[in-house]
Amino acid sequence: MELRKGLEDIAIKETEITYIDGVLGRLYYRGYSIYDLAEFSNFEETAYLIWFGKLPNKKELQEIKEALAEEREIPEYITEFIKNVRKDANPMDVLRTAVSMLGIEDRSNEELWKKAVKLTAKIPTIISYFDRVRKGLDIVHPDPSLSHAENFLYMMRGEKPNPIDSRTMDVAMILHMDHEMNASTFACLVVASTLSDLYSAITAGISALKGPLHGGANAEALKQFMEIGSKDKVEEYILKKLESGQRIMGFGHRIYKAYDPRAKILKEYARNLAKEKGKMELFEIAEKVDEIGCKILGKKNIYPNVDFYAGLVFYFLGFDPDLFPTVFASSRIVGWTAHVMEYLKDNKLIRPKAIYKGEIGRKYINIENRE
Ligand SMILES: CC(C)(COP(=O)(O)OP(=O)(O)OC[C@H]1O[C@@H](n2cnc3c(N)ncnc32)[C@H](O)[C@@H]1OP(=O)(O)O)[C@@H](O)C(=O)NCCC(=O)NCCS
Repeated sequence: MELRKGLEDIAIKETEITYIDGVLGRLYYRGYSIYDLAEFSNFEETAYLIWFGKLPNKKELQEIKEALAEEREIPEYITEFIKNVRKDANPMDVLRTAVSMLGIEDRSNEELWKKAVKLTAKIPTIISYFDRVRKGLDIVHPDPSLSHAENFLYMMRGEKPNPIDSRTMDVAMILHMDHEMNASTFACLVVASTLSDLYSAITAGISALKGPLHGGANAEALKQFMEIGSKDKVEEYILKKLESGQRIMGFGHRIYKAYDPRAKILKEYARNLAKEKGKMELFEIAEKVDEIGCKILGKKNIYPNVDFYAGLVFYFLGFDPDLFPTVFASSRIVGWTAHVMEYLKDNKLIRPKAIYKGEIGRKYINIENRE
């Protein structure tokens, strides 16, 4: 039996959702280039595309917008849990538990896509309620007249965001929506393949995304730019890091051997936000890390990944770094649920094997006689 550590290069299903060309640095959702979706689409339309496989017509878009807006509020018992949970809780633990609680109450047999809409609509509410409660602020209820991305920022801040912030949030959410068979999506499928319920599958996905090797690199990248402190210290910082065998955070990817297209798009949004918020120096540090990092690591086909500029974008939009993985989850929920629905159309229990390396036929010794 062949051992493939980390299941590297093993396909576990065929998909029509997302295609990544890691060599040319291209990404497609349902055949549409990520560049076109980031330029022309919005959260609701791209979510529809990922779930149903086609761009919605006007009526379908209106319906999905309304369905998402109607489902934003969370049940009182979850708001109570958020108010009572310790204020220093990891936001991903709060999100995971709240999603799990939603699953306890939802016993309906409604179609999976309706449950997917419910989860997608409610996740920003859970995140923003927890953030406001832990800061001693009143919660801000969702406003159904706002778009998904606008409403998320509105609930976080307590005031309506300006068009630049709303559009940036929309685009950042589109870019994080799906990425083929990553660790958290696979975790969802393992659970779903046992014919467990969607909430349990998503709880597993959130658990996997929490890990620093998956959903935490954006905060690490931001921390690195803050640590460097000024543009003229970038080169020295990078050389020191690499000489001591450490990694540049936000660089490198298992699939991309070229510049991640999501990073290319986010870079320009980060630049604009930096200008708007008067944080140009932090952006310029990142840009310099990008430039020098590419010169050195580009020789090994290591380039910036999505997390490189995502941390900056989320930070400029006002999210605390410990919230970044939850913002990631608020977007990836669309991909998780789409992959579960696709997998269940031709379900096969996921049950890999392990190669046994231990002894066989050992003699059982009574506890009194053991050393
Ligand atoms: C993402 C990541 C885990 C992918 O790694 P991978 O495909 O498993 O590749 P490996 O970890 O085996 O690295 C391959 C080589 O590239 C180097 N490398 C990879 N990423 C690097 C980075 N960010 N900085 C410096 N060197 C890096 C490794 O040191 C290794 O070099 P070697 O062959 O000389 O030993 C890795 O690039 C990384 O740790 N990046 C930083 C964290 C990050 O940004 N994660 C977010 C991913 S979206």
